[in-house]
Amino acid sequence: MRFLSILANYLSVVSASTLGKRAPTPGSLSQVTSFGNAPTKAAFYIYVPKKLAASPGIIVAVHYCSGTAQAYFNGSPYKTLAEQYGFIVIYPSSPHSGTCWDVSSKATLSHEGGGDSHTIANMVKWTVTEYKADTSKVFVTGTSSGGMMTNVLAATYPDVFKAGIVYSGVGAGCFASSAGGVAAWNNSCANGQSTATPQKWAQVVFDMYKGYNGTRPKMQVYHGSADATLRPQNYQETMKQWAGVFGYNYDKPESTKSNDPQSGYTRTVYGPSVEGIYAQGVGHSVNIRGADDMKYFGFT
Ligand SMILES: *[C@@H]1O[C@H](CO)[C@@H](O)[C@H](O)[C@H]1NC(C)=O
Ligand SMILES: *[C@@H]1O[C@H](CO)[C@@H](O)[C@H](O)[C@H]1NC(C)=O
Repeated sequence: MRFLSILANYLSVVSASTLGKRAPTPGSLSQVTSFGNAPTKAAFYIYVPKKLAASPGIIVAVHYCSGTAQAYFNGSPYKTLAEQYGFIVIYPSSPHSGTCWDVSSKATLSHEGGGDSHTIANMVKWTVTEYKADTSKVFVTGTSSGGMMTNVLAATYPDVFKAGIVYSGVGAGCFASSAGGVAAWNNSCANGQSTATPQKWAQVVFDMYKGYNGTRPKMQVYHGSADATLRPQNYQETMKQWAGVFGYNYDKPESTKSNDPQSGYTRTVYGPSVEGIYAQGVGHSVNIRGADDMKYFGFT
């Protein structure tokens, strides 16, 4: 027995250290099992392109509820775009039952708070160091629960991310759980009943990283007018939030353009760092627009 437990310990140490050190294989989705401090069990998958740029950019691509890193890797255009532009893609995978992200606990809604947002930020920091990535090209995007997490990461790690693109999410803190639940569903937010002023929503963001006074990521937000899962009011609330954060007048956008970027979509620009795209007749969720994402992130 004693021998067996020593052997088991030995084997677990060996496998942890060898797996941790094994370099991700370029051109395939690889798991990184050891990346320093991981306060939650969110798994870290990475795609390093075969044609890696010198000082590459990083896109964190966050999956939806019931999704996985593998599913988002297969179902989104980023791996193909990574080969084209040479950036690295991080695909975090949710550890929670149902695989929604934790966008509800106080921990995840706080900078260095010990929640999933913290674990994902540490995936980014590991990648920056390991690949000498360009910290001015670190971006986040996601769909649905991943769109919620995109807003949460932009709010909790404004020092890490330079831009975010949200597909069909809700504003940062809108899913906050009064009971402190981790990865809890929030009906009032999902149903579009959590409404507030731009100032109040902005304060929710400021409170996630108190005292932070540096630059913040620019934000682009897509939402469908026929979204029955995360009601379209969440589009308005998210736009209020980021307009409030940047001090733009939510009631007087800089410009509103119909049929942009495609027929039936309307682009509203609140200021240089905040724009929304409302997709008429589109449900949950809006399809990823890979080529446009590349433009927004500045790869083209
Ligand atoms: C749902 O989120 C709102 C904030 O959008 C919060 O005020 C409310 O307490 C949350 N509901 C539950 C049941 O946690
Ligand atoms: C921003 O915060 C840092 C650290 O607290 C402080 O040293 C600096 O003076 C602040 N800058 C401004 C413009 O408030």
